[in-house]
Amino acid sequence: MSPNDNLITSTFMYNIDNIIRDIENNCFTEISNPLSLDEQDQIKDYVAAKVEGHDNVRFTLIGSDLDNTPLEAINRSGRFRKLCADILKRNGIKVSDDFEFYYALGGNNGDTVSHTPRYHFDAFYLTVVFPIFIPHNTQANGKLNLVPLRRNIHRTATGNFLLKVLMQNILISFVLNLAPVKRLLKVKEINLSEDCIYIFYGYRTLHSVGYHDSGLRSTAVFHTHNPHSNSYLNKAILTKHHRVPVKGTQFKYSADWKNRNGHLS
Ligand SMILES: [Fe+2]
Repeated sequence: MSPNDNLITSTFMYNIDNIIRDIENNCFTEISNPLSLDEQDQIKDYVAAKVEGHDNVRFTLIGSDLDNTPLEAINRSGRFRKLCADILKRNGIKVSDDFEFYYALGGNNGDTVSHTPRYHFDAFYLTVVFPIFIPHNTQANGKLNLVPLRRNIHRTATGNFLLKVLMQNILISFVLNLAPVKRLLKVKEINLSEDCIYIFYGYRTLHSVGYHDSGLRSTAVFHTHNPHSNSYLNKAILTKHHRVPVKGTQFKYSADWKNRNGHLS
């Protein structure tokens, strides 16, 4: 086991059969308490320090932006890497020991005007969401929406690209957000918990982040295995996460999460 296996609590256990079955049957799996409270606090402290003194926060940090942070520690965690490698292997995907994650930390404190959540497929096969701050005082807290119709890996990057262009437009998202369509397709609306992580096949599953109206919402997302990594189209597809530095003014927050009952206002 890696000497850097310092995040993901040592009591973290999982049953790979249950995880695979859960994703097959429900489109996602939820794993409770993979991080100790102390580990959660390290991450919350890091994000809180980032947004301190800012208002109207909106940021995305990726890759080297997150060097020497608790998020990089997750990236290096032997337990987390093994979990993801096990899932990929059970999907018939060869995984090298030094496989890489593409990971991003994002946050914002909501939009005053409602908008249509945009559905998309990820460029990477596996997606793991770590909710860090989820607003508790509103129903519109940015739920994770999953359409339970999975596609297989496209044989070509071009086929993948064309399907993404076809599905990731505002009209499709508008239709998918209509209540009767959501009911018909049994779209899953997942209310994220800060004590859990969520794993699904982001490449295969059309998904979106729901409307979020107020309070800081921050998640870290880890992706791995791009089926079309050698394609020239790959870079064109990898446009979802753009680096956005923390910006805004006079954001007020409290450190109440340490009491486990309060969140950013
Ligand atoms: Fe995504």
